[in-house]
Amino acid sequence: MGKITIAIDGYSSTGKSTVARQLAEWLGYVYVDSGAMYRAVTLYAMRKGIISEEKFDKAALIDSLPDIALEFRKNSENKAEIHLNGENVEKQIRTLEVSEYVSPIATVPEVRRKLVALQHTMGEDKGVVMDGRDIGTVVFPKAELKIFMNASARVRAERRFKELNERGDEITFNEVLENVNERDQIDTTREDSPLRKAEDAIEIDNTETNIEDQFHIILQLAQDRIAGRVK
Ligand code: DC
Repeated sequence: MGKITIAIDGYSSTGKSTVARQLAEWLGYVYVDSGAMYRAVTLYAMRKGIISEEKFDKAALIDSLPDIALEFRKNSENKAEIHLNGENVEKQIRTLEVSEYVSPIATVPEVRRKLVALQHTMGEDKGVVMDGRDIGTVVFPKAELKIFMNASARVRAERRFKELNERGDEITFNEVLENVNERDQIDTTREDSPLRKAEDAIEIDNTETNIEDQFHIILQLAQDRIAGRVK
């Protein structure tokens, strides 16, 4: 049976990665978390002092791009983790600080070009589930299945707050809500590849429903396309 490409886009904390990871596992596909790639570039820029509260030196970031090597490697539980220049940074990229700087970093066209080229390589053999903001619109416009996930900003911030809290991060709910709103604003209004629903994407809103329940709906959509029941 032929393999397909599955693009899962949507706002932050809508459960994209949970669904995408489960789907890839179920189908025996490769899962690619494209947000982790933007986060790793952000971590690099923070460590080099390229981005901070005081400044964002875009020219320095563009100059540094050839020095940034990204790679996903499987851990002992078979879960792909991102490596920045050989270092596993899967945990370091999930902090609120990285979340605060990642959207401005993701507006830079040169950064996007580099990461999109890498994403094309990762998906060239199909059999891939990739989640992000521009996967169905820019990276794989011909993907056989495109899902666009949404939920209210409050519900998304509650989920994110719970996650960060469980990890022991000391943050307030309002800080998380503010970050969610700010990222939505930057991600949807940037000039290069803004977050928007592809015309042929299927929209799924999980403000009221459990993300787990949605998995079965999305799995069915994927299986219909793999079997050729739906074009
Ligand atoms: O999915 P995430 O929250 O980890 O993504 C982090 C940020 O990266 C998000 O705010 C916007 C950016 N991003 C992007 O611009 N394009 C993608 N394909 C994935 C993420």
